[in-house]
Amino acid sequence: MKQIIGVVGAGTMGAGIAQVAAQAGHRVVLTDTNPDQLQRAEQQINSDLEKLVQKSKITAENAKTIRQNLAYSTQLSDHSEAHLVIEAIVENLAVKHQVFAQLEQAVSQTCILASNTSSLSIASIGACLKDASRFLGIHFFNPATLMPLVEVIPGVATAATCTAHIEALISAWHKTVVVCKDTPGFIVNRVARPFYGEALRIYEEGIADFATIDWAMTHLGGFKMGPFTLMDYIGNDINYTVTETVFAAFYFDPRFKPSFTQKRHMEAGFLGRKSGRGFYDYTEGSVVPEPNTDPVLGQQILERILVMLINEAADAVLMQVGSPAAIDLAMTKGVNYPKGLLAWADELGAGWVLERLENLFAEYGEDRYRPNALLRRKAHEQSKFIL
Ligand code: NAI
Repeated sequence: MKQIIGVVGAGTMGAGIAQVAAQAGHRVVLTDTNPDQLQRAEQQINSDLEKLVQKSKITAENAKTIRQNLAYSTQLSDHSEAHLVIEAIVENLAVKHQVFAQLEQAVSQTCILASNTSSLSIASIGACLKDASRFLGIHFFNPATLMPLVEVIPGVATAATCTAHIEALISAWHKTVVVCKDTPGFIVNRVARPFYGEALRIYEEGIADFATIDWAMTHLGGFKMGPFTLMDYIGNDINYTVTETVFAAFYFDPRFKPSFTQKRHMEAGFLGRKSGRGFYDYTEGSVVPEPNTDPVLGQQILERILVMLINEAADAVLMQVGSPAAIDLAMTKGVNYPKGLLAWADELGAGWVLERLENLFAEYGEDRYRPNALLRRKAHEQSKFIL
């Protein structure tokens, strides 16, 4: 059914979310305090629609309707008729509180309110509302127009009917929806941490260089991008901050400990592709480093990172962050993993995974490597995660 969707914040995410909602056939109002940003968002959406027409993904008529269904405004009061408003402004709790307090006054009593936050808790944002039962997290991935995954996160105050309604609505936008618990990093930004963290640790111990670790993960593991290429792509500032935020939010659990190597790269301004240099050099004429393609070393690297990822996925299941199917779907659709981590564990055998983690734990004596209780259970029972 055609609805009126509001999006607050016309930056990277807001513009993409507005386009997704408009392409799904809704009337969309996109607001931002900065008129220049609104103009940029409009230009970006129009040029994207034009490209879709050129690629015959949509007709010129479709594009025209979508454009007509999109309105741009600097006034929050223009969300008065909305059925749903998604906030995608700066990641700052105080600013989000200010906006939601105003928004609650502007919208109807039945309008659902949502945040696209990636690191703040839904409970903390919703606390500023008089009625938080109609508030939840709707977490899109970047770029929102292309990434199929959306995490839907009910907070402690969210009504079950509100979650069910949003799950159905966003699924109708041709997105894969996973419902997850309001815990730090939700599913993807939590379960993916070892992909970066363990790769950095392997490098820091001098076991292998960036290129070799990336080669092992792509060539032997089937990942689309190696950890260092991906961190350079995301930006070391952004990726480091997510790790640090998740680490603090988990009461400094050593599993999520950030890396000095990444911090130093960030401090030096080696942010990745966007600054011309990160773990790799992107300036013109720079030589791409050759990996060491020793298969034994490669397998050792892949296995170490993979068992850490599986351990994290198992923990997310144990702590009911999401169902095993939701967690596998999130990692394949949200970050393009070649296989769901739990399905991968089933293939390898929980006992095989456990043995490798126990070896790491015995070798290092660090809590970081402690095997998860659910993984132990699965190994003991010789049962599978995905039934
Ligand atoms: P951005 O910096 O590109 O855009 C933020 C926009 O909000 C700007 O256009 C700014 O003018 C506007 N804004 C700031 N204060 C405002 C206010 N009081 N009222 C109205 N508009 C205001 O930020 P980005 O990257 O789009 O992130 C937005 C949200 O989405 C954040 O909560 C972030 O954590 C989350 N997110 C970001 C992802 C990413 O990869 N960039 C991925 C998933 C979630």
